[in-house]
Amino acid sequence: MAQPPLILVIDDNRENLALAKATLEDEDYLVALATSGEEGLRAFSADTPDCVLLDVRMPGMNGFAVCSAIRALPRGHDTPVLFLTAQRDVESFDNALHAGADDFLTKPIRPAELVVRVQAALKLRRLGAELREHYELVRRQRDDLMRLQLQKEQLSAFIIHDLKNPVSSMDLQAQLALRSAVLPDTTRAALERIRDEARNLSHLIVNLLDISKSEAGQLLPRRRDVELSALAGQVVEAFALKAQAASIRLESQIGPRVVSADLDMLRRVLENLVDNALRHAPEESVIRIGASQGDEAVEIRISDMGPGVPPELRDKIFDQFVQLDHGDRVIARSSRGLGLTFCKVCVEAHGGRIWVEDGNPGAIFCLQIPQPRERVGS
Ligand SMILES: Nc1ncnc2c1ncn2[C@@H]1O[C@H](COP(=O)(O)OP(=O)(O)OP(=O)(O)O)[C@@H](O)[C@H]1O
Ligand SMILES: [Mg+2]
Repeated sequence: MAQPPLILVIDDNRENLALAKATLEDEDYLVALATSGEEGLRAFSADTPDCVLLDVRMPGMNGFAVCSAIRALPRGHDTPVLFLTAQRDVESFDNALHAGADDFLTKPIRPAELVVRVQAALKLRRLGAELREHYELVRRQRDDLMRLQLQKEQLSAFIIHDLKNPVSSMDLQAQLALRSAVLPDTTRAALERIRDEARNLSHLIVNLLDISKSEAGQLLPRRRDVELSALAGQVVEAFALKAQAASIRLESQIGPRVVSADLDMLRRVLENLVDNALRHAPEESVIRIGASQGDEAVEIRISDMGPGVPPELRDKIFDQFVQLDHGDRVIARSSRGLGLTFCKVCVEAHGGRIWVEDGNPGAIFCLQIPQPRERVGS
């Protein structure tokens, strides 16, 4: 069992000492006694008590001086010191506080009051120690987390940066090799495959790069006037071969329209959404890109006739690494469930929002990008 707390009583009056000792021992405390300030300080250093009861008026060092001296000793700063005084006046009280007292009892000693005050002081000290311990623990954990987070950010920045170049170089080498007129069909097909995968990889890398930029608060759109129908036309063009291979019709229904947005971000948002639609749309179906002007924002909609997204997952799919199992298609290994997260951070960086609706059949991915006042209605 743990040792009972040790209470050091310092008082030049032996009757008081005897009464305090008897009272505290009745409560099973250990008690050490000193009859002067000097003796009390020696006892404090030798015994390291858990609590000190201190008389104010003593020959030699008075109680205030003893208390100040205790506060300067090792472990003296958090040991409760309770003053025992015959003077019940503001000045003594202020002096006691100034010397670092925790509590102030007036003589004559009333046993029940003494016990309650000592118990309270010990309890406060214990709580203080526990709080400090918890605080230290939380601080250490916070520091560790911070360090880990910084390491993670640094590592992913390195990885993303160092991956971009070799991937472009792979694509370039494959393009060079494809120029040869005398390639066997299988080699040509393999080279095309390498190009496809290199494109997938660089798509993944730029998505990752922008997601991590947005986590660091650095993804700031550079808005300018973007001709939306031309942009949508370019995206349709870029996916034309893929759509053709899957027997899907990909069309833009956007008429001439200028919007204010970051061109590169908006292009990659559309590419991600069209890429998703192509992955999920069935053969012989149509994927449409449309736009309309709302009160304060332009709305772009991309619809397909695939399996759609169940209502309960319509928020979740915008989280990182979330992929649904539609069961009808093998997801390409280079896909990671980052495309929609990227779209969301981009659209939100513009102050807009993105969501998915039921196309009945299929999914309609919608995004709104707020427009400057003068543009609205144009
Ligand atoms: N048009 C869609 N129809 C049905 N489900 C979709 C559609 N678009 C996205 N999803 C679902 O949402 C998930 C998340 O899409 P997201 O674009 O974030 O990731 P991904 O396409 O799987 O991989 P990545 O885009 O990183 O290559 C997809 O895995 C898919 O399950
Ligand atoms: Mg995707």
